[in-house]
Amino acid sequence: MKRVLMVCLGNICRSPLAEAILQSKVNSKDVFVASAGTAAYHIGKKPDERSIAVAAKHKLKITNQRARKFVVKDFDEFDVIFAMDESNYQNLLLLARNEEDEQKVQLILKETRLPENVSVPDPYYGGDEGFENVYKMLDEACERIAQKI
Ligand code: 4NP
Repeated sequence: MKRVLMVCLGNICRSPLAEAILQSKVNSKDVFVASAGTAAYHIGKKPDERSIAVAAKHKLKITNQRARKFVVKDFDEFDVIFAMDESNYQNLLLLARNEEDEQKVQLILKETRLPENVSVPDPYYGGDEGFENVYKMLDEACERIAQKI
């Protein structure tokens, strides 16, 4: 069983989508996917309504997810930790205890986008179009991840 953690800032917009998209593309007997945020702003909350809507549009249900903050113990619990953007990536590296922890952290778009475009843009302050854009980027990245896993 491979364990994958998706991480963004608030764990209400991007990483809940990444969690559901990847889980939908793999066998749940082989791969477990979860998500967390580097910030504590939204602990215990449901995903953002706009993420719920874009997920539903693509036939994914994320309403049962609840936001939680990333904890150092997650480095022990997960095999791969995907950061949504450069800032999440740097924050995770700061929490890493050793090289083994560091090597688990990857930028989710690294293999599907050019080096200058490796961040999934934070859609929180934007409109619905931002969420569809985020969905497309994550769908493409998760397709690649599912094939490699
Ligand atoms: P997320 O989006 O990191 O994709 O969940 C955000 C959610 C909340 C905030 C920022 C980004 N916030 O500032 O509260």
